[in-house]
Amino acid sequence: MSETTTDTGLDLDPGLGEAGVLGEGSGLGTALTTAYSDALADVYDDIYPAAPEIAEYLSTLTKPGASVLELGVGTGRVALPLADQGFEVHGVETSAAMLARLAEKDPEGRITPVHGDLVQLDLGRTFDVVLAPFNVMCCAMTVDEQIAMIHAIARNTAPDGHVVIETFDPSDHHVQRKADVTTRPAGGRGVVIESLEVLPASQNMLLNSTLFLDGAAPKSSSTVMRYLWPSEIDLLAAIARLELVGRYSGWQEQPFDGGDSRKMCVSVFRPLA
Ligand SMILES: C[S@@+](CC[C@H](N)C(=O)[O-])C[C@H]1O[C@@H](n2cnc3c(N)ncnc32)[C@H](O)[C@@H]1O
Repeated sequence: MSETTTDTGLDLDPGLGEAGVLGEGSGLGTALTTAYSDALADVYDDIYPAAPEIAEYLSTLTKPGASVLELGVGTGRVALPLADQGFEVHGVETSAAMLARLAEKDPEGRITPVHGDLVQLDLGRTFDVVLAPFNVMCCAMTVDEQIAMIHAIARNTAPDGHVVIETFDPSDHHVQRKADVTTRPAGGRGVVIESLEVLPASQNMLLNSTLFLDGAAPKSSSTVMRYLWPSEIDLLAAIARLELVGRYSGWQEQPFDGGDSRKMCVSVFRPLA
């Protein structure tokens, strides 16, 4: 962990400890996510390309040099292009392995890493933009965790700031009755095979990833998420006094019609006065 890591005063062992025991006060969703992200950190950038389009979009939304807090910063796929655009970037992440990858990619320390659980987050300051990209809100397992997340988002957002949440459209997943299996190429290193099973009543998804990498024996890791309908995101936002100002199916403000899980849902909110 970098010496510049922000001390949040939070429990920095938000998940499974060395013995795989759940830490006191930790949510199960966070614990599962942490273990899963630790297992995938090494291969994450081989599967998912950098996302400069998010930085380009935020440049149209807020002022130059604005402060941005990214929730679930991972390896910096989104955060590093944000820093390239001149934003002041802070990134919360529960996985130490993800933050170690970020530190390798950011030797100048342009991103301020915060090792902790966003569910409990209170940095004692606000940001011009709080960004929850690439399904981070769905990394929770329960409604209670998602309510805690939206409160954390709201208390860290400036009164004249923006909240930007990216989630997948759950329409097709909600009606799938069999495991959905996807093979993801991992650069020249091999493949990751993902199997996704859905429990529509609780909106939980069991994601199991098996890594076939570098000619080594396969390794598997699983996590549980909870998907969110756009209308639910609006309800969560209303609980935290956030008002919807835009909803799109992509970062160029393409119209969002819903009903197609190949598309993402980008929701933009502002705090109510
Ligand atoms: C799908 S990845 C997205 C990473 C990065 N934002 C990107 O777009 O590439 C979600 C990230 O959120 C992190 N995360 C999930 N729940 C979290 C929590 N409660 N607190 C902090 N980080 C969390 C995970 O460890 C993971 O790195």
